[in-house]
Amino acid sequence: MHELELIIQKSLGSRWAKIPVQALSETDSTNTRLKEWAREGRIAAPYVLTADSQTSGRGRLGRRFVSPAGTGLYMSILIAPPANIDAGKITVLAAVAVCRAIHELTGLQPKIKWVNDLFLRGKKVCGILAERIDKGVIVGIGVNLKTPPGGFPPEAGVAGALDVDIDRFALAGTIARYFLDGMETLDTDDAITYYRAHMPLIGKEIRYQKDRQEKSALVTGVSDDGGLMIQDDTGDHILRTGEVSLGSQNMTGL
Ligand code: BTN
Repeated sequence: MHELELIIQKSLGSRWAKIPVQALSETDSTNTRLKEWAREGRIAAPYVLTADSQTSGRGRLGRRFVSPAGTGLYMSILIAPPANIDAGKITVLAAVAVCRAIHELTGLQPKIKWVNDLFLRGKKVCGILAERIDKGVIVGIGVNLKTPPGGFPPEAGVAGALDVDIDRFALAGTIARYFLDGMETLDTDDAITYYRAHMPLIGKEIRYQKDRQEKSALVTGVSDDGGLMIQDDTGDHILRTGEVSLGSQNMTGL
């Protein structure tokens, strides 16, 4: 096993020490790789893949996820959750796992912006892309560790970086440990409590798109299955997917 894969394995802890991990120097997208390998029957869940850089990194809502070498952690985890599990719970467990891992290794405390973006000092430092496939779910995680030399491209939006010295392979293993622990017990009560405590949109006015129209609403909470509870002039609703904003790139409250 490669030295970097050993670091991932060590951080996974004894419970998950035997699961396959692979660290690539470059790939198209770690999510795409796991999707293809699983479809071809070459791998089975659980499986952890990292890459130093991605040539076709993908984000939510069809966006590109810029993934240069040397500044970020790009990883995907293939899991085989129970067939009836709610997608929202996987999302919550993933966001909480990344938050806990970053806090454990750096002392920094990112905040969670529903659904599953992590913010630090008002800037997005991590995005998560969960994709369902025939044989399970792939959870892709991109963490900005350093600001790239030329800065973040405009398409990255309100992007920022942790800007701390951290071993990205130790971070990958620690994230996977928290996430796999959560998926094993499916103890979402604990994760939801953590999620709510670190989700500062509660009590704020947000904007979101519905039926191609921009709407605004007050966030009243997060439901037990990870939905965003909102209130507007038509009553109470729960958002299950999509993206919300605090308005004109103003994420200073996060
Ligand atoms: C988002 O912010 O919209 C989600 C970004 C997810 C990026 C990660 S990087 C590792 C994995 N591979 C991908 O192509 N995307 C995810």
